[in-house]
Amino acid sequence: MPVYAADADGGVIVDVDGNSMVDLGAGIAVTSVGASAPKVVEAVRESATHFTHTCFMVTPYEGYVRVAEKLNEMTPGDHEKRTVLFNSGAEAVENAVKVARSATGRNAVVVFDHAYHGRTNLTMALTAKAAPYKSGFGPFAPEVYRVPMNYPYREPAPIGGKEAAERAISQIEKQIGADTVAAILIEPIQGEGGFIVPEDGFLPRLSEWARENGVVFIADEVQAGFCRTGEWFSVNHEGVVPDLITLAKGIAGGMPLSAVTGRADLLDAVGPGGLGGTYGGNPVACAAALASIETMEEWDLNGRAKAIESQARKVLEPLAEELDVVGEVRGRGAMLAIELVSDSASKAPHPTAAKEVAAYCLERGVVILTCGTYGNVIRLLPPLTIGEDLLGKALDVLVEGLRSWEHES
Ligand SMILES: Cc1ncc(COP(=O)(O)O)c(C=O)c1O
Repeated sequence: MPVYAADADGGVIVDVDGNSMVDLGAGIAVTSVGASAPKVVEAVRESATHFTHTCFMVTPYEGYVRVAEKLNEMTPGDHEKRTVLFNSGAEAVENAVKVARSATGRNAVVVFDHAYHGRTNLTMALTAKAAPYKSGFGPFAPEVYRVPMNYPYREPAPIGGKEAAERAISQIEKQIGADTVAAILIEPIQGEGGFIVPEDGFLPRLSEWARENGVVFIADEVQAGFCRTGEWFSVNHEGVVPDLITLAKGIAGGMPLSAVTGRADLLDAVGPGGLGGTYGGNPVACAAALASIETMEEWDLNGRAKAIESQARKVLEPLAEELDVVGEVRGRGAMLAIELVSDSASKAPHPTAAKEVAAYCLERGVVILTCGTYGNVIRLLPPLTIGEDLLGKALDVLVEGLRSWEHES
């Protein structure tokens, strides 16, 4: 976007020319507590006065351990857990796969259509979409197998969640072989792929099959996790307990931090020095994470995510009836999307509409993002601290944008 930020918080970005914009992107689902939340700012300042870095693998420090203990306590399941910290979401995903392979002694990793897991070599292989993420960047890592996702809006015929899981399982068993699979890796709600929420029953059945077959079930909660959907983790909506969870984005109030949290026996299977990195679990980022979690708890940001969902649905859902271009409004909490199509009968994806409506919003001071395998999805990821009035005004602009696009095209 042709905007250089000078200041940001609570759903407002001020650019270097002094223009104010409403932020419905939160830096791609990162600044859930706001972009300069008071506790986070103070924690960063305070932490940096002590030390900015020592390398946790050389001289450990308490902040890292406190974040690890907190994530062990917050993530689903009351089994013994371990956490290891990194910098980015892709790094967390790569390391979760390393843990699964090391613990199972198997190689294959199962991923899904429409998946996005990052831009490093292994995570490009795990990601589904070619352009712009993979084209020209191969060769890719081997032993990655893709199976069908449950994409309710685009299933050829209605299918239940459990049935859709059986479809994927059958492909795994027939084409890969259960006993060669180290891990099933899935975004419980797919992010870049288009905010795809599978039907109830899909995730529980996959995780049950994984358990029965000694396969590590990894939930990639990098985008959908941490308060975003009105629960700490998006798997909580269906009571799924993953073996490993990957986290990043919203966990540290804008500072770069990521984590793999999960079963102690899996993480303990890796030998000393097997996981790590110079910067992983930076002390300032750890202080920011602890302050973010405190802020989320104090301000009940899970509650705010749910309130954002009801406010937005009230305004957006009627559009699916009113406008041909609006195919579906979906999502959970403050992770909401509008899929745009040529018409509701053909459901032909309309990426131009998504691009032009987003541009319309930006011209009127609303920062809004698109996504989707077909590039035809408008996504809403506001900071959870955005005020009701501000969100209301931004939604009005979006509605105007959709209406005028349909009437003028
Ligand atoms: C589900 C998911 N996994 C992994 C990643 C990669 O995270 P990062 O960009 O921090 O490497 C993303 C980023 O959008 C994501 O949405």
